[in-house]
Amino acid sequence: MKKTIRLAVVGTGGMANAHAERFLAIPGVEICAVCDVDAGRARAYADKHAPGAVVFSDLGKMLVETRPDGLSNVTPDRFHAPLSIQALEAGVAVFCEKPLATSAVDARRMAALAAETGLPNMVNFSYRNAPAIQEAARMVREGALGRIVHVEASYLQSWLACDIWGDWRTTPAWLWRLSSSHGSLGVLGDIGVHILDFATFPVGPLARINARLKTFREIKGAEAGGYTLDANDSAVMHVEFANGALGVIHTSRWASGHANSLALRLHGTLGALRIDLDRSTTDLDICTGEDLRKPLWKTITAPPSPSTYERFVEALRSGVNDQPDFARGAEIQAALEACVASDAGGTTVSLSV
Ligand SMILES: NC(=O)c1ccc[n+]([C@@H]2O[C@H](COP(=O)([O-])OP(=O)(O)OC[C@H]3O[C@@H](n4cnc5c(N)ncnc54)[C@H](O)[C@@H]3O)[C@@H](O)[C@H]2O)c1
Repeated sequence: MKKTIRLAVVGTGGMANAHAERFLAIPGVEICAVCDVDAGRARAYADKHAPGAVVFSDLGKMLVETRPDGLSNVTPDRFHAPLSIQALEAGVAVFCEKPLATSAVDARRMAALAAETGLPNMVNFSYRNAPAIQEAARMVREGALGRIVHVEASYLQSWLACDIWGDWRTTPAWLWRLSSSHGSLGVLGDIGVHILDFATFPVGPLARINARLKTFREIKGAEAGGYTLDANDSAVMHVEFANGALGVIHTSRWASGHANSLALRLHGTLGALRIDLDRSTTDLDICTGEDLRKPLWKTITAPPSPSTYERFVEALRSGVNDQPDFARGAEIQAALEACVASDAGGTTVSLSV
């Protein structure tokens, strides 16, 4: 009989619904407590997903009074570090939304504290849930593509160009994502973080980055709803991986025609693969062996793989942590910071690998 896992959730906005659905779909998991600075929102969330959960507006009180096995931190980016640290210091394992923090210093502090406590810790790089990327990582690891030489990765959204997810000018959940004083690192910190993880998970770490970030204030305006719209809207990175491969990684909220499109192409000395999550999260196209000279592509289907949510629950049950952990989150945070430094200085920035 598996131990029942008691989870608490802090931050009960949009993404917290996905956390509830995914965690509660795992047998033996319950949400025992929820917390939000907006108590009414927390109450409504509990009513919808976990009617038995105790509702709080103070995290410290929730941790002391309910002693959960793990905390799901789904607050806006600038609260990831302080609230995750508070939980780890209270002896509670943490599943934290991305980006792990708003600075590499904070992200490293979180990773160091997590390692010190020995508690399970995970950052929700949720596109790892696509079996296709797990299969791609396995193929690269086992040498099926030879040495990876060339990489192209993109994550494209269009919610600034249209009202696909509502009117961003009047919606706080979109407005904080456009404002650096609300802790946002723009599209780079929001979804650039996903595509950086998606590209480097199979290929390995980055050695150098040259990035250009842009805020299109002349199109969207400089202010809306009391928020200053200064965070970047588009990011283009030229990168060199530690293995010597070159790559282009780019992301935008102005990518009209794309709701939420994530794609990766890897080219190696013995073969290539491509993933297009708009088409499938399980299928990937490969061109290897005899097919390389023609060139011919075939589609393969990846075997099922556990989600980040399942990995975290398993880590709570077994006491053995899994990936992507806080140390990985800190590694990606350093890449974000390198992009900002590169853009500011017009230089190529090296990363320690
Ligand atoms: N992994 C993914 O694919 C993915 C997708 C969407 C969002 N996210 C991440 O999830 C996080 C939340 O995003 P969202 O869209 O749900 O935002 P949101 O604005 O809809 O919700 C955030 C909630 O946190 C609450 N909150 C703010 N400060 C708090 C505090 N100090 N203590 C307790 N509650 C607090 C707010 O009242 C709000 O209810 C962000 O970091 C975002 O980057 C990740």
